Amino acid sequence: GEVHHHKFVIKSKSFIRLCSTKNILTVNGKFPGPTLTAHGGDKLVVKVYNKAKYNITIHWHGARQVRNPWSDGTSYVTQCPSQPGHKFTQIIQLTTEEGTVWWHAHDGWARATVHGAFIIYPKRGYHYPFPKPHDEVTIILGEWWKKEVMSIPENANKTGGEPILSDAYTINGQPGGLYPCSTKESFKMIVHYGQTYLLRVINAVLDEELFFAIGKHKLTVVGKDGCYLKPIKTDYIMITPGQSMDILLEANQPPGHYFMAGKAYSSAFGSGFDNTTTTGLLIYHGSNHHSKMPIRPYLPPYNKTEAATDFTKQFRSLASNTHPIDVPTEVDTNLFFTLSVNLLNCTDKPCTGPFGKRFAASVNNISLVYPDVDFLRAYYYKIPGVFEMDFPRKPGMEFNYTGDKLPANLYTPAFDTKVLVLDYNASVELILQGTNVLASDNHPVHLHGYSFYVVGWGFGNFDPKKDPKNYNLIDPPEETTVGVPSNGWVAIRFRADNPGLWLLHCHIERHATWGMDMVLLVKDGHYPQTQILPPPPDLPKC
Ligand code: C2O
Ligand code: CU
Repeated sequence: GEVHHHKFVIKSKSFIRLCSTKNILTVNGKFPGPTLTAHGGDKLVVKVYNKAKYNITIHWHGARQVRNPWSDGTSYVTQCPSQPGHKFTQIIQLTTEEGTVWWHAHDGWARATVHGAFIIYPKRGYHYPFPKPHDEVTIILGEWWKKEVMSIPENANKTGGEPILSDAYTINGQPGGLYPCSTKESFKMIVHYGQTYLLRVINAVLDEELFFAIGKHKLTVVGKDGCYLKPIKTDYIMITPGQSMDILLEANQPPGHYFMAGKAYSSAFGSGFDNTTTTGLLIYHGSNHHSKMPIRPYLPPYNKTEAATDFTKQFRSLASNTHPIDVPTEVDTNLFFTLSVNLLNCTDKPCTGPFGKRFAASVNNISLVYPDVDFLRAYYYKIPGVFEMDFPRKPGMEFNYTGDKLPANLYTPAFDTKVLVLDYNASVELILQGTNVLASDNHPVHLHGYSFYVVGWGFGNFDPKKDPKNYNLIDPPEETTVGVPSNGWVAIRFRADNPGLWLLHCHIERHATWGMDMVLLVKDGHYPQTQILPPPPDLPKC
């Protein structure tokens, strides 16, 4: 592969959105940030200069970082954050990733504005597993806040209540014409009738799954999270925070203007095509329809779980000769994690969460407390007392996870800094079980350092006797961020062949902030080529 050199300068820049001007954190003064491109097997060397007043890290979401957790960019997991005025050089050696992934800040809520696309073309000499599109367009679904986003988690923490939501969703940084002062700048994609386009869609929103569709046009989903899929023809997609999708679009409708639109799924907002809907325009070259209203797509009602699962249940790997799968058929390590949003008593003052309590969130009833020294450094240099190695392989107590009777009072999380230790090359099955301890919610769970196979999913409680019989071991989708449905579960499998310390967390930022995070420690193998690489010389100090 080739080597690509990039310079990322983290700095503040002012932008006008929603009728006012505001400074936001950016990479190289861009929002969304710069797009990285490479071919499978290439290497990227990114020098990250922090010229901002905040600590920062940059994470390459969907890149596996084989043996190189040092460049994973996860604050207090694989590095201490880079401080203002400092530089950190990160190396991304691509292996089998192909398609669309992305990068984003991984410290506090900085990823709200510090993110961008990362496009991985097939290895040189290879082709897409679908007809070559005439052109490619990146669509980043994001948000805009009128308030300073960096202080939101801190403010929410003070009161124990919910962090505020953004003031607009955005397509490529623009809210679109349903929001005030946003019509002229709204994102426009010009197409030629009869041509096919590859859309690379990324959900960079902090807290909401989104439905996305384009008026009158069918979408054909051919990839997800940097892995290809058997083509899925659909009117709309549901994309969780953290996910990316490769989608073919045929410009085969009467030439004119069409809305592309994104709207929250399962949020506090209202339903329908309303003013929380972000829009862009799909415009046929040469069509002049300025007087006419662009044609709107159908978007499912915001609370329609079946609309979400009807779409996601179609994911299948290519599982072809050129793109074989490698799902473990035998499992030697069984893990079962509950994902819960919890409530805690406030000791000193009444909090603004439900019942005067404060929010927390947990995996197996443990809310992760990040150490002051990153996990990876503590492990590599054998610094004692930083973390414990006894993260439980299953929840301490069994109950009706998705039932009506809530053991909320019995079930307050512990605050711990623990890792779960996996042997090198363990064949892992992990059940991610949603709960409604407080309230049920979707949890898009992301695992760093790996892609995994989603072999099963369902509503209600996972049944170890029945459910495994229905696993798909033939062509399960390979993902890096899996949506665990509200009041449901998913089963994932992977081989623990990438040594390091890797974060697993909910990609809904408020849940992650409340503690729905945990760390896997995958031990070194016996041979040098199965062990963690040495640390880079400019690793940020703690
Ligand atoms: Cu997209 Cu832990 O991140
Ligand atoms: Cu969550």
